[in-house]
Formats: sequence, C-alpha cells, structure tokens
Amino acid sequence: MKVFVTGGAGYIGSHTTLCLLEDGHEVVVYDNLSNSTVHSLRRVQELTGRVVDFREGDLLDGDAIDQVFDEGGFDAVIHFAGLKAVGESVAKPIRYYRNNVVGTLNLLESMEKAGLRRLVFSSSATVYGDSSDVPLVEKSPLDATNPYGRTKEQIEDILSDLRASDPRWSIAILRYFNPVGAHESGQIGEDPQGTPNNLLPFVAQVAVGRRDKVFVYGNDYPTPDGTGIRDYIHVMDLAAGHIAALGYLESHTGDFRWNLGTGRGSSVLDVIEAFSAAAGHPIAHEFAPRRPGDVAVSYADPSGALADLGWSARRDLDRMCQDHWRWQSSNPYGYAGPPTSNDLSSN
Ligand code: UD1
Repeated sequence: MKVFVTGGAGYIGSHTTLCLLEDGHEVVVYDNLSNSTVHSLRRVQELTGRVVDFREGDLLDGDAIDQVFDEGGFDAVIHFAGLKAVGESVAKPIRYYRNNVVGTLNLLESMEKAGLRRLVFSSSATVYGDSSDVPLVEKSPLDATNPYGRTKEQIEDILSDLRASDPRWSIAILRYFNPVGAHESGQIGEDPQGTPNNLLPFVAQVAVGRRDKVFVYGNDYPTPDGTGIRDYIHVMDLAAGHIAALGYLESHTGDFRWNLGTGRGSSVLDVIEAFSAAAGHPIAHEFAPRRPGDVAVSYADPSGALADLGWSARRDLDRMCQDHWRWQSSNPYGYAGPPTSNDLSSN
C-alpha cells in the first residue's frame, strides 16, 4: 500500500513508519516538525535500507495536503499529527482545538476530494477520563477531562459522523494506553523537548544523569504500593497494532475502535524498579503530591483488538525499560546531541 503518514517523524509515527517500510509499504510522511526532527526519519532509512518520502507541511494548510494527494496512488492515511501536552492544552485551548480538530478536518476534506477513505487515527485512553471502571473496554463511557483529551474525543465523534454520512469509509480509531520503549536498535526513540511530562522519559533522563531524581506524584492512591497504576505498552507493539488495523481496513468498511494496551497495570514504583534493573543502577526518587487530573488506576481490556485484529502486545515491562534505556544511553540528549556553546544564552 501507499500510505500517507501525518506526524510520521514523531515518536510513535517514526516507529510505525519503520514497520510499514519493513512490511513493504510505500510511505509518504507529512509532518510540520513542530515537536520532532527529520533525524528520526534518517535513522529509519538507515535501519530499513528504504527511502522515506518526507514532506514538511502543516495540516492547517489544506492546499498543501491536496497537492500531495494530487500526486495520486494513495491507499490509506495514518494520522498521528497532533499536539499532546495536557498542561499546555489547559493553558492554550484554542491552539489545541485549532491544531488537532481543524487540522483533522482539513485532512478529512482533502481525503474526500481525493476519494481516499481509509484512515487509522491516533486516539488515546485519555478519552475515558477518570473512569474507575477498570479494565477499560471500548464501550466504556467517554469523558475526557482536559482540552487535549477533548480534541481526541471530538475527532472520534467527527469520524463517526463522517462514516455515517458515507458508508464507504473505513476508519480505525486506536486508543493508546501509555506508549514507552524504543526500537531494539536504540537508534530511534522518544525525544521530548524541554522537561518531560510523562513518567518514562523523565525516569530515563534521571537514569542517564540529566536530572537528579524522579518525583513520584502521590503515594496515597488506593493501590498496593500507593502509587498510580498504568498500562504501559511498548511502542513497537503499538506500531504493530497500526499495521494490523490497516490490514483490517482493507477488507472492512465502518468505524472501529480498539484499545491498544497490554491489559496489565504497573505502578510508578514498578516502573522505577524495572528501569533501575535495565540501567544497572538505582534511580533516585522522592514522593511528591498528587498531580492534578491524574487517576489512580488505568489499564486496558485489549481483547477487542485480539478478537478482530489478531493483535496483542508481546513485550513486557522489563523489555520496555531495556529498550528505552538502550535508546536513552546511546542518545543521552536525543537526536540533537549534547548542547553546544552556541546553544547557551549570551546574557
Ligand atoms: C498522560 C496524560 C494523558 C496522555 C498520556 C500520553 C495527564 C494527566 N495525562 O497520561 O492525557 O494521553 O500522558 O502518554 O497528563 N508520574 C510521576 N512522576 C512523573 C510523571 C508521571 O509519578 O514525573 C506518574 C503519574 O502520576 C502517573 C504515571 O506516572 O501515575 C504515568 O504518568 P504519565 O506518563 O504522565 O502518563 P498518564 O498520566 O497516564
């Protein structure tokens, strides 16, 4: 298939692009590089020996998307591009709704014009809000609690309405739990700009010596060790889930929703312990107050994806931490490398 991948230079996008190429697909990546770099795609090319056709572009520029689709031959779109920082979305809701929702509307309009009606969309377990009814199943009620999460929920609704208006659409909505880890080569991985919001990249930066200690947000949750429980999923398992969904859409029309998680919960302390073992040294941490908006426990019931797609996550938490560590220790400062004197402010 010829696949148009929005956000393909980012963390999940680059790993999925690698898997698509290894599977023999042709890939055109469309990315505005607002939170990513072309280095990830260079490394994907090195790892696969295949060419990534990269187009720098923004989803807010519908004409630019049309121009790419005018080249013809596309069979499907995988749509990763989007802003994803919860705290920033609370501070800048208009930016989030415009970028994520309007950007997706532009993409869908361009797809319609091009007669392209096969789409895999990156949603998130964040759409379930603070439902305490675990494991979360796809029909659990949706109740996102912040603008970022609401953009995902709104896009899901838009996609349902679109498919109801035209039964020729094939749409897979993938609700990711907590993506972590890296390709086993250690050559591509998560490269957050600034202070990481999420647990694994923070732990990894402490492990590699870029930060002093991990702040564990809350040790008074109603969980066995008092810390929050999440369903961490290896990014390569997640990438495989996209390939499986794409295959499903080849022979099914409709709009489908699948949880992509392992079905197993791990606490913050479990993660720190597993990462310490992977890194070969203890990781300093300190208990801190709960982070506003966090839930105690979240994990998936991934049986829908197994039944429909034959997909399940194969890599466990130890493997996630080992692969994440290989990436972080080989690239302590991410793709850009260590800061140079030119990066220092002159005042
Ligand atoms: C967060 C977002 C979610 C988003 C997801 C993307 C919030 C409230 N939720 O999920 O919308 O889809 O990232 O991956 O931001 N923790 C610490 N110390 C840290 C960081 C995290 O103790 O420095 C704890 C958290 O309290 C939580 C767990 O680690 O219990 C996981 O946190 P995180 O990686 O941020 O993911 P989520 O909160 O599940």
